[in-house]
Amino acid sequence: MPLVIAMDGPSGSGKSSASKGVARALGLRYLDTGAMYRAMTWWMLRAGVRVEDAGAVAARALEPVIVSGTDPDGPTIAVDGEDVSGPIRTREVTNAVSAVSAVPAVRTRLVDLQREIIGAGGIVVEGRDIGTVVAPDAAVKVFLTASEEARAERRAKELAADPGASVRTTQAEQARRDRIDSTRKASPLTKAADAHEIDSTELGLDEVIEAVVRLAKERE
Ligand code: C5P
Repeated sequence: MPLVIAMDGPSGSGKSSASKGVARALGLRYLDTGAMYRAMTWWMLRAGVRVEDAGAVAARALEPVIVSGTDPDGPTIAVDGEDVSGPIRTREVTNAVSAVSAVPAVRTRLVDLQREIIGAGGIVVEGRDIGTVVAPDAAVKVFLTASEEARAERRAKELAADPGASVRTTQAEQARRDRIDSTRKASPLTKAADAHEIDSTELGLDEVIEAVVRLAKERE
C-alpha cells in the first residue's frame, strides 16, 4: 500500500511545517486535519451556534460541506464553496475549536471525510489522532513534541501578525486548548504505542524533516 505518514502532536510542535516539508521531499499529498476542525468551527460560529453547547453543535455537524486540498505547496480549505484558509486562523476560531472538536458527532463526520481523502495512501496527514484513530495502519507514525519554551517562542513569532494578542495571553490560551485536546473523551491527543517520538526542541525544521524522511525510507 502506498505510504501513509501520520504526524501527531500538540500545537506549536512544528507539525505543519514539518508535514508539508516531508510531503514535498517524498512527492506525497498533504492533509491538515486541524484545518478541517477549524473549518467546522468557523461555520458553527457564523451560523450562531453556541460552541459550548455540545448538543447544538452535534445537531448541525452534518451541514457544512468541507473540501480540503492536498497540495503541500498550497493547501486550501473551503466551506460551502467559500475559501476559508484565512478566516480559520483567527483567534476567535482558535479559541473555540477545542470545544467543537470534542463533540463525537463532529469527529465521526470529519474522520469519515479524512479517511476518504487518505484513500489508497501516498499522503502525509497531520493532526492529533491520526496514528491512533484515523489511520491506525499508517506505515510511519510520528509524535512530534517540543518543550513549552520552544513552543512559546514559535508562537511568539506567529503572533507578530496579531498585535492584539500578548505572548502571555496566547500561551494561556494555547495551554487551555492542549488541556482540552488531551483530556477529552473522544480521541484525545495521545502518542500511539508504535509512534516514533521526535522532540523538535533542539532541532531545526530541516532536521525534523530529515528524521521523518529517514523513517519513511526504512519502511520501503
Ligand atoms: O492543528 P491545529 O492547531 O490547527 O488544530 C486545531 C484544533 O483542531 C486542535 O486544537 C484540536 O482541538 C482539533 N484537532 C483534533 N483532531 C485532529 C486535528 C485537530 O481534534 N486530528
